[in-house]
Amino acid sequence: MDVARTVFGDRYELASQYVDILASRGVDWGLIGPREVDRLWTRHVLNSVALAGLVDDGSSVLDVGSGAGLPGIPLAILRPDLRITLLEPLLRRYNFLAEVVAELGLTDAVTVLRGRAEDQHDQWQVVTARAVAALPKLLGWCLPLVATGGELLALKGESAEQELVEGQGLLRSRGLVGEVVTASVDPEVAPTWVVRIR
Ligand SMILES: C[S@@+](CC[C@H](N)C(=O)[O-])C[C@H]1O[C@@H](n2cnc3c(N)ncnc32)[C@H](O)[C@@H]1O
Repeated sequence: MDVARTVFGDRYELASQYVDILASRGVDWGLIGPREVDRLWTRHVLNSVALAGLVDDGSSVLDVGSGAGLPGIPLAILRPDLRITLLEPLLRRYNFLAEVVAELGLTDAVTVLRGRAEDQHDQWQVVTARAVAALPKLLGWCLPLVATGGELLALKGESAEQELVEGQGLLRSRGLVGEVVTASVDPEVAPTWVVRIR
């Protein structure tokens, strides 16, 4: 895929290896729907890295509810400067993540953790979440995990503005500011909505 080659540059082969794993083992393990196979690049991998431009160099990143590794693994492939923790409560998904991270040779940059967001006690500079929960619930789980001066980046669909309105009360009570950013990793890739809380 041309645009993916442009986006990932010398990391394209690694990204391609991840897409191949999603299309085979990801489907076999029930983590990826068979109908998603044709749109793994556009709808999942390139969509995931849309938030890359919002993450400062060298940040520690927690990807909450990583599932099959989205957005954490594409982000780790594109941005080797980041230190990324993939958090996933379900054993089967945790096992998949641990296996794939090792296979892709990403263990220096990526840690896989089994657990729920609300049970974590550490903090990260950036917390990401894609398709995990509606924003008000996500804020309750994730805001305590964001280090001072850090940010929460929630990849959302078209409902982003409405979800942000629903989360405003909680944000205001904590003195936080939220905005919806339309982000894309390349002009050829359709933009996605990121709720950014700082
Ligand atoms: C719909 S999947 C999305 C997976 C992935 N982020 C993606 O975009 O494909 C939601 C994931 O959130 C995880 N999850 C659900 N509740 C969670 C919680 N309280 N803390 C962390 N992860 C949670 C689920 O196990 C599941 O893997």
